[in-house]
Amino acid sequence: MPELSVAVFATDDDQRAVLQVLVDGTSVASTVYSNAALPLTANDPVIRKTQSFAPDVLLVDISTDAVASALRAIELLHQELPNSAVFAVGPMTQPQLIVSTMRAGVREYIERPTSTTDLLEAFVRLTSTRRKPGRESSRGKVFTIVNAKGGSGATTVAVNLALALQSVHHSTALVDLAPLGHCALHLNLKPTFTVSDAVTNLHRLDSSLLDSFMARHERGLQVLAGAAAPTSIEPFAADFARLFDTMVGLFHYIVVDASSRLDSATRLVSNLSEKILLIAHADVASLWSAGRVAQYLGESGSRDRFALVLNRYRKVAGFNEAETEAAIGAPVLWRIPNQYFAVSTAIDRGVPLMQQGNTEIARSISGLAEYLTKDDLEVKRTAWSLFKTV
Ligand SMILES: Nc1ncnc2c1ncn2[C@@H]1O[C@H](COP(=O)(O)OP(=O)(O)OP(=O)(O)O)[C@@H](O)[C@H]1O
Ligand SMILES: [Mg+2]
Repeated sequence: MPELSVAVFATDDDQRAVLQVLVDGTSVASTVYSNAALPLTANDPVIRKTQSFAPDVLLVDISTDAVASALRAIELLHQELPNSAVFAVGPMTQPQLIVSTMRAGVREYIERPTSTTDLLEAFVRLTSTRRKPGRESSRGKVFTIVNAKGGSGATTVAVNLALALQSVHHSTALVDLAPLGHCALHLNLKPTFTVSDAVTNLHRLDSSLLDSFMARHERGLQVLAGAAAPTSIEPFAADFARLFDTMVGLFHYIVVDASSRLDSATRLVSNLSEKILLIAHADVASLWSAGRVAQYLGESGSRDRFALVLNRYRKVAGFNEAETEAAIGAPVLWRIPNQYFAVSTAIDRGVPLMQQGNTEIARSISGLAEYLTKDDLEVKRTAWSLFKTV
């Protein structure tokens, strides 16, 4: 993640020091300027001084005994530094205050007391909206695959979707974030390193080091393998942010297999994703779980990028798709046929479906890949018609 520069404004000295430590603790942002005085007029020297740092973020603490002057300062900062995003820190108990700060130009309202995670999530939201297609189209897109419940087919979809994207774009990576990584088994790879090697070496992670942590599949797909044993020590979410920032600079497409991993890392990666595909079956328990998972992962702002993929799909009497979409709050994007024999032998043999000829299920997954990339300028329409699954 590119370092965001942050200017911190807090009239209280302790609170200013705390905010500075929290900002720097995210490791995706650093404090470049801090001030106890809030600007009162447009030609206030504080404004000019702040402009000289051209900070990406202006973090303003709203002291409850000086709300009016904080709101005025936010308005001025928003007006005089139009390229900076204003984040406010204040109490959550006063809805009217939150609305007023938003009207004054605040982009994020963060609860006090604040945590590094809250700030990190807000920073990630800012950088991911700045990277919308067209602005920085050279940066890769992330597709995250999560299952509604164990065994729904997340790994099967992730592995084959990544191969489908690779066969057309030649610049695809698969990252296995699952609690126990199965991607390498599906691809018959024997990786030397895993995601945790990559994240724990982040301080010196550059593209060549990252490359050495990845295993290469014979079709050219680069794979950052998952954990080979359950582990209770999880890397800090900020480390994942840095890893993915390096990855989007290197690959056109990054497919993430989160399978049933539901934690701050999956939330963060969801925030960075173009789409989050929830793999579910068309049955009550699976769809109920899909709703809960979408709610949990979507809480940090990625809700509108969720879509359902119904795996092992067959028509079931009484199954109402429109009702399902309304209940879960996500559209049904794709349906993948139920072909147990083909899928399970592909996994057992380590020869993924996309390598096994032009089957119905391989066509379905390449159709999904085509759908997900249909708006990308660099995708040549002919590329897909030439694409063969053999
Ligand atoms: N489209 C399909 N048709 C038939 N069987 C399928 C299909 N997709 C997956 N399966 C079966 O479901 C099983 C689980 O698939 P997979 O490992 O991809 O799911 P997962 O969601 O990643 O599971 P986990 O919770 O272990 O991470 C596989 O062993 C496979 O046999
Ligand atoms: Mg899995």
